[in-house]
Amino acid sequence: MSQFQIAVVVGSLRKDSFNRKLAAALAKLAPPEYSFQEVQISDLPLYNQDDDASQAPAVKRLKAEIAGSQGLLFVTPEYNRSLPGVLKNAIDHASRPYGQSAWAGKPAGVIGISVGAIGTAVAQQHLRTILAYLDVPTLGQPEAFIQAKDGLFEVDGSIGAGSRKFLQGWMDRYLEWIKQHAL
Ligand SMILES: Cc1cc2nc3c(=O)[nH]c(=O)nc-3n(C[C@H](O)[C@H](O)[C@H](O)COP(=O)(O)O)c2cc1C
Repeated sequence: MSQFQIAVVVGSLRKDSFNRKLAAALAKLAPPEYSFQEVQISDLPLYNQDDDASQAPAVKRLKAEIAGSQGLLFVTPEYNRSLPGVLKNAIDHASRPYGQSAWAGKPAGVIGISVGAIGTAVAQQHLRTILAYLDVPTLGQPEAFIQAKDGLFEVDGSIGAGSRKFLQGWMDRYLEWIKQHAL
């Protein structure tokens, strides 16, 4: 079994999501001591504080997956210059009931890809604000704002030659961050 289980949170439900593809390609850049598992957020209900005392099975599953991980990887698109609602919904669910947040202390990396020229920069900044409040130590540098372009991915889904060095460097720093902060 890998030493470090990483819970991957993809902020898109789209079947052909660039962000899910990026998450899969990044996982290939890590050594075997790290394993990556995407958490499902598509079946979460809309967050309602009335349900805090009896959280839905999908919410309990999400919280258990986060609790069982040694680190988090957020890979998100930018929607209207912020993070997608589905991602915020998942974050809110796993942060509750008050005092029982699954997120606290889990080290994280934030990255994202979009078709826009600033490559999810604003969404990532908004996400960092939320993660700071939730006491999630988040890798600050390097930042990675990826724009979807031809050649970014090879046909087998791995990172194309033009971006491999940069993204390998990002991953190396991220993996070190997880190792340093793993609970
Ligand atoms: C509701 C909506 C809002 C969007 N807003 C932005 C935006 O603010 N900035 C941006 O770069 N791209 C924006 N896009 C385009 C996304 O970058 C693009 O749809 C991308 O493929 C989404 O990521 P995914 O492929 O992982 O689903 C938006 C797309 C949608 C559907």
